[in-house]
Amino acid sequence: MSDLNIKIKNLANLIIDSNDIVALTGAGMSTESGIADFRSPGTGLWDKVDPYEFASINSYMANTSKNLEFMLETGRTIFRARPNRGHKALTKLQKMGKLRGVLTQNIDRLHHKAHTKNIVEFHGNAYEAKCMSCGQIYEITTMVNQVMKGQSSPSCEKCSGLLKPNAIFFGEPLESETLQAADEMISKCDLLLVLGSSLVVYPVAFYPKKIISKGAKLAIINIQETDIDSAAEVVIHEKIGEVFPRIVDLVKEN
Ligand SMILES: NC(=O)c1ccc[n+]([C@@H]2O[C@H](COP(=O)([O-])OP(=O)(O)OC[C@H]3O[C@@H](n4cnc5c(N)ncnc54)[C@H](O)[C@@H]3O)[C@@H](O)[C@H]2O)c1
Ligand SMILES: [Zn+2]
Repeated sequence: MSDLNIKIKNLANLIIDSNDIVALTGAGMSTESGIADFRSPGTGLWDKVDPYEFASINSYMANTSKNLEFMLETGRTIFRARPNRGHKALTKLQKMGKLRGVLTQNIDRLHHKAHTKNIVEFHGNAYEAKCMSCGQIYEITTMVNQVMKGQSSPSCEKCSGLLKPNAIFFGEPLESETLQAADEMISKCDLLLVLGSSLVVYPVAFYPKKIISKGAKLAIINIQETDIDSAAEVVIHEKIGEVFPRIVDLVKEN
């Protein structure tokens, strides 16, 4: 048996032996749906733009229309994207009763589109807009329509405050309800399955350490190495869509 096949079998067995599994997903989950991640060499968004210019709250407020141009372009890719084999395999695992839910850094809602249930979105989502003054939530189309009509600073219908996509930008804190929901999700977790995250963005990068310190196990599927690979029971450096459905099929056969 090849090294990869052994790892695939080991991860399937780990899933079979675990009782409370949570997946932690990052941008690598969605690259096979055509959405670029941040840090893959050559194709990651950070090779093309300066994150602090385009995805920070300060630059958004100082330079709204320039930032919106980039965001609308990224948004179009996200809105068109369909769940890939990896998203679908997670839903299949959940239907088999083997997945409690998903903690995701992604804003693309592809887990929702794949009908996975019980999802915590650490960084919000690209489908809503939020008023920076009163907190009112709108569908993103409200904001996009204003921009398309030439309004350089899209505004709240209630209080005229500046609207922003309801995704967390650099420099913004995560919502406390989100962190609470994530803690609740992992409270009984005995296996954390990390799929497509470089695990460098905090506080998400804390979760693997957190569950290990509670005696739970960690498995990682990520093309590139991560700093925490050595602490995982199984690490597979391959594309999620190519290996994860095979793993789920093996679990199903048992
Ligand atoms: N789809 C999205 O919603 C989206 C897209 C870009 C960035 N983001 C944001 O990116 C931030 C960065 O953190 P991150 O860790 O999620 O992304 P990241 O870009 O830092 O890391 C992605 C990792 O996924 C790996 N990868 C890429 N394609 C893969 C594949 N097919 N199979 C397995 N691994 C693959 C890469 O090697 C990389 O290590 C998050 O804050 C998130 O909000 C989200
Ligand atoms: Zn408002």
